[in-house]
Amino acid sequence: MIYAPTSPEIVSGKTEHILKGLNRLPPFNQTAVRLLARPFGDEDSIGDLEASFRGDPGLTSQLLTAANSVAFGFRSQISTIRHALAVLGRNRIRSLVVTLATSSYMRQFPAEVVRPIWSHAIATALIAEDLAGYSDRLSGSALYTAGLTHDLGRIGLLGAAGRKYESFLFDEFEDRDESELREEEMFGVIHTVVGGLLTQLWGFPESLCSLAENHHVETGFDTEEDQIVHNACILADAMGYPELRLRTAGEPGAGLQWQSAYVDDSYREEVALRIREFLL
Ligand SMILES: [Fe+2]
Ligand SMILES: [Fe+2]
Repeated sequence: MIYAPTSPEIVSGKTEHILKGLNRLPPFNQTAVRLLARPFGDEDSIGDLEASFRGDPGLTSQLLTAANSVAFGFRSQISTIRHALAVLGRNRIRSLVVTLATSSYMRQFPAEVVRPIWSHAIATALIAEDLAGYSDRLSGSALYTAGLTHDLGRIGLLGAAGRKYESFLFDEFEDRDESELREEEMFGVIHTVVGGLLTQLWGFPESLCSLAENHHVETGFDTEEDQIVHNACILADAMGYPELRLRTAGEPGAGLQWQSAYVDDSYREEVALRIREFLL
């Protein structure tokens, strides 16, 4: 979707300020970006994937710690990337690496500010991964990654606008439309556009950049992936993990009824557990 500011004369100065701020932000973890650039389900040799981790001992140790956590329930100790790749498989490793890299990136901001965005991202990722299971064509791990990164524009705005965006995140709005209008008024650009730009700047694959940019578009989806991430974002709001405080939020529309019905209590528990696993 092409971003069209409603009031260009107000937007120009503020937008420029944000764009400069985005360029000054620390880059996203490059090992994670290299893994994202590999097509999902490709036949990379384990040696190639192992090589991606060389030179990034921080991420490697985080990955091994996570792989040995109770969440994965492996009896034997996983002490090398080769072993982790063998037992978890490429797609789960990729999802885990992007989860770890995103959570590390968010840690540069105050936990109380980013925690709701983080919980929303994890809930959206898990729901999108599950919804992918209804189609033979879609990859669950690709949809998980798209869900996890779809609102990174809010992190970009937080980094570029600082305290002003922090207080925006603590505000309450009537609905999504009102929040977007206020966002544009205050910052000259909305988080979906920032998400598209930031993920491009960081070298994310085109598909993830476009999903970050389009996740609030409500009709005329370009792809099934667009629709799933959009729906998963709304369902995450409905489950109690909203990206913002909205007075009339989280009511999935008619097209989402079958999907919201399957978000039952046991599913809620699973999402809460996963959020706690990577708690910020
Ligand atoms: Fe959003
Ligand atoms: Fe969202």
